Amino acid sequence: MSVHKQVRKVTTHVLNEMKLRGEKIAMLTAYDYSLARILDKSKIDALLVGDSASNVMAGHETTLPITLNEMIYHASSVVRGVSRALVIVDLPFGTYQGNSREALSSAIRIMKETGAHAVKLEGGAEVIESVDRILSAGIPVMGHLGLMPQSIHKFGTYVVRATENEEADKLVKDAHLLEKSGCFALVLEKIPALLAKRVSKELTIPVIGIGAGPHVDGQILVTHDMLGLTQEFSPRFLRRYLNLNDEIQGAVHAYIDDVRQQDFPNKNEQY
Ligand code: KIV
Repeated sequence: MSVHKQVRKVTTHVLNEMKLRGEKIAMLTAYDYSLARILDKSKIDALLVGDSASNVMAGHETTLPITLNEMIYHASSVVRGVSRALVIVDLPFGTYQGNSREALSSAIRIMKETGAHAVKLEGGAEVIESVDRILSAGIPVMGHLGLMPQSIHKFGTYVVRATENEEADKLVKDAHLLEKSGCFALVLEKIPALLAKRVSKELTIPVIGIGAGPHVDGQILVTHDMLGLTQEFSPRFLRRYLNLNDEIQGAVHAYIDDVRQQDFPNKNEQY
């Protein structure tokens, strides 16, 4: 029987076992209790409390403004809705790049105040001291390479990354460095499928892709995008499984009509 069907709780070791057996890992983002509960009941393997909350929950243009306190609020809400999935929380911009002491104290706050199981951070060699220090406290770390939205002002654009040899070589080196440090998994965002395939083959830890093609160990999407709650964002890699924007608008229009026509509440909907 497949690993994910046997386990009552997904741990970092379960994800590793899934990679070993060639079972694909399914991940989504979550930011609140109600949706996290539904996703967990649907048996998603892992939930990322992504700093994409900055975009889809708070309406910011980038992930940069979200604070550690805000991430802790989202993450603790998610954790309360989850009994099975592994919950990973993004360290927000500015809470780990400065120095490794600050990185560790940010990660400790997340673990202590949310009950989550792991943290994720963006970058390779530049942040390896922070990665090492967080790991030394026994906190599992997930890496994130390729398109790193916290560096959007350096990149200048959200186009596909590592299409040139120099950037691709650095990405492969960084991936090995993160694995060697002890990261339990790695996210690769918006890079060529063949490069992601190479990284996934060379690493023993699970590689989770978003816009990184099919030859990785698992996939992650932003839940609001795949459910069609967001409309403006339509990259090639995004598959929409629902159009909740239209569904919700339809329901709200029906409600407004019912109120205006005094059809709501009816006899059975009052005391
Ligand atoms: O913040 C986020 O949602 C992410 C995923 C896109 C991987 O980092």
